Amino acid sequence: MATYFLLLGALGLLYCSKLYSSILASVGFSVIGYVVTDFLIPRVSPSFVKIGLFGKDLNKPTQPVIPETIGAVASTVYIFIMMFCIPFIFFKEMVTTVGGGHRDLSQTENVNGGLFLHNKLSEFLSGLLCLETTTLIGIADDLFDLRWRHKFLLPAVAAIPLLVVYYVDFGVTYVLIPKFMRKWLNGKTNIDLGSIYYLYMASMSIFCPNSINILAGVNGLEVGQSIVLGVIALLNDILYLSIGPEVSHEAHRLSIILITPFIGVSLALFKWNRWPARVFVGDTYCYFAGMVFAVVGILGHFSKTMLLLFIPQIVNFIYSCPQLFGLVFCPRHRLPKLNEKDGKLYPSRADLIENPPKKVFVPVLYFLHFCKLIDLEFETKDNKTIIKSCSNMTIINLTLVWLGPMREDKLCNNILAIQFITGLLSVGIRHIIGTILFGTDNLHPITSN
Ligand code: UD1
Ligand code: MG
Repeated sequence: MATYFLLLGALGLLYCSKLYSSILASVGFSVIGYVVTDFLIPRVSPSFVKIGLFGKDLNKPTQPVIPETIGAVASTVYIFIMMFCIPFIFFKEMVTTVGGGHRDLSQTENVNGGLFLHNKLSEFLSGLLCLETTTLIGIADDLFDLRWRHKFLLPAVAAIPLLVVYYVDFGVTYVLIPKFMRKWLNGKTNIDLGSIYYLYMASMSIFCPNSINILAGVNGLEVGQSIVLGVIALLNDILYLSIGPEVSHEAHRLSIILITPFIGVSLALFKWNRWPARVFVGDTYCYFAGMVFAVVGILGHFSKTMLLLFIPQIVNFIYSCPQLFGLVFCPRHRLPKLNEKDGKLYPSRADLIENPPKKVFVPVLYFLHFCKLIDLEFETKDNKTIIKSCSNMTIINLTLVWLGPMREDKLCNNILAIQFITGLLSVGIRHIIGTILFGTDNLHPITSN
């Protein structure tokens, strides 16, 4: 019954959106995305298991086998929904052509008396193309467990259409110089990074998907963190649309149009993936979700602010580097370990006796242990103390080192709460510090010297 009401509401929103706004349409499609994803997941999951797409839920006493790669359902629904979205978003700019096939004779004025926004459509389509390619990469990874070196650069290739549209449409590659540094640079207010800026955006398209994939292993965390990222990005958009300057509205409207349906399909996926998980999202969802934010950051021209929302993922990546780059042994799974006696999760550990760390890194391990940033376990052999194991370097395990063992759902909620608070603070601080450092903030452009 509730589903019918939701669908009815969504259709109402779509009808109103024709008259009023593309944002209403995206809210309507978001509801449809939720309903369709929620409808499809239980129905298609057995087919995933049938072709071998399943995984063991490692933190349950019986380690049940559940369908994997179900994120592919969410991303496919999202892509289809965004296709349907196109006529609604561009309704007011649509042209009635009456030139008998001759473009120059055709009537080019739309219902608003303006021209059809081809550049806006190409922005939108380049974003969709990038997300489609990313979903393909994710599915290939889930099917064939691609090697890190093989899949590393692929998201940047997927982002090429986006970067081309950015170059043609916007092309801004300069960054502002903080006020206190300007006196050393002959009063220059900005510095043009040129192609380095494109390299930065391409790196972002590699980083965002992978950073979500390595902050994983607890039921609901992959989708939960993506929903939190989406909500904070939306709050930032609403801030700009309500009190920001007119020039920023178009970019933030596009951001809302892309993110709202993403939250819709993700909420349905979360319903099935939250503790105790009935499906796994797979790498497909992690890559797709990360790419949604890279696309929004690049097309919305706020890639630096978007990266601020990724602070927990950035911290998790930096903290993981010793294991990712082989200084310390990295087991196949770094997710926390269940203690069946109390039903709580404990930090998982890397065995450092069989796989000793690089010698140069041993003092760093002692230092991190002293700062309570990892937990080392020692063993005495022939009157010599050696490191037996260390807690795996993820912020999931670190939360357990700091706060003590806890149940899987509580751990997920705690990490999501920390992420939400950090995200809100970073957006707030970005606007305050931005004003102090640069003498201007694009939310309240004030000129000062
Ligand atoms: C990344 C992490 C790995 C972590 C894994 C969990 C790095 C370098 N890699 O690897 O440490 O263990 O994600 O997703 O940090 N699983 C659960 N419960 C969950 C989620 C996943 O038990 O809530 C297990 C299941 O067996 C599932 C498997 O993890 O089949 C999926 O792992 P996969 O996504 O293939 O791992 P990676 O992304 O390679
Ligand atoms: Mg994964």
